[in-house]
Amino acid sequence: MQKAAQTYSTLLILCLTLITGCVSEPSSDDKGLKEVSSFPIGGAVEIRQVLQDSSLRSIILNNFNSITATSDMKMYAIAPRDSVYNWDKADSLVDFSQRNDLRLFGHTLVWHSGTPRWVFQKASEDSVWLGNFLKTYIQEYVGRYKGKVAAWDVVNEGFDTQGGEYRETLWYNKLGKEYIANAFRYAHEADPEADLFYNDFNLERDTAKLNGVLKMIEELKADNVPITGLGVQMHLRMDIPDSLIRESVRKMAATGLKIHFSELDIIFNRHDDTRGGGEQLYSRVTPEMLEEQAQKYETVAQIYREEVPEAQQFGITFWDFTDRDTWINPFFDLKDWPTIYDSELQPKPAYYGFRKGLSE
Ligand code: G3I
Repeated sequence: MQKAAQTYSTLLILCLTLITGCVSEPSSDDKGLKEVSSFPIGGAVEIRQVLQDSSLRSIILNNFNSITATSDMKMYAIAPRDSVYNWDKADSLVDFSQRNDLRLFGHTLVWHSGTPRWVFQKASEDSVWLGNFLKTYIQEYVGRYKGKVAAWDVVNEGFDTQGGEYRETLWYNKLGKEYIANAFRYAHEADPEADLFYNDFNLERDTAKLNGVLKMIEELKADNVPITGLGVQMHLRMDIPDSLIRESVRKMAATGLKIHFSELDIIFNRHDDTRGGGEQLYSRVTPEMLEEQAQKYETVAQIYREEVPEAQQFGITFWDFTDRDTWINPFFDLKDWPTIYDSELQPKPAYYGFRKGLSE
């Protein structure tokens, strides 16, 4: 039954790839984001949706020169069962990115929330197995896409939600903090040209967490671990002060690493960082709120250009770019409007604000 479903899914992706393979960039009077930006602009995408939805595809091809898979390249998608790899969606993403001249960013090799259940089960009986699996998984995966995936989030969210301590995940508990250094080493061995990132959230607002991550980066560099980039997710809230964001980004840039704003969105409401933990402060959005959001998007682009030296500007990626598809609403059980396109897929003031921030 599972096999039949997988075959069907492969066939569907193949057909859609063939149908949409020759899509070329639609013409537009307005310059898209990528055309006004001096660094790459990206969006998080789900390949099945991209191939099925031509409106979404137009937004991507007009505005982005980089894409990241929202979930298609996570461990639970690539290694759903013991000894089973499912490369279909990742292959299809590679194909789509190459046909359309998009940089493909690999998200993510090691993430506690992306780890499939069978790995937890197997590792609970055998830590040595987990160490070996980490190596073979990364080498096989990164090796397969050598030269096709430009960069990887090697480790995602290895620090606690708040404060400066390592997150006590399966990986940390079984393998110690060395799992991080080893993951970078394995990825570098498999593709020495790929940029390798550590990626985390709230670094722009939680100074203790940022300091913990910066200390880890210093240690990794001192040990010659091949880390070349720092990703800050940038799931922002309207009330996070611009001055705090600016100061944090300055500290990140001082590492000398490439800096990726890797999952940008900006919410009006609040949440406690847990699933279902939304606090609905605003039940509707007003034109004034949308203007303020536009201003914030503009400032974020300016902060990136002003605080990150050009050679370190890896790019800015939106995590979902329409209010129709945003992960925020289902995840936090909220109604919010965090992206640059509205639920009808029309550009919001936020879109124009961000574009202004890229060029002025
Ligand atoms: O694919 C299944 C589908 O078959 C099923 O019918 C459906 C029913 O729930 O679930 C689908 O899987 C969902 C998957 O996204 C693919 O769309 C999962 O339930 C859902 O939990 C999963 O959520 C993703 C989440 O990461 C967990 O992987 C979100 O879309 C994605 O936005 C989110 O992304 C994370 C970054 O990786 C790391 N930083 C935070 C960010 C937001 O949480």
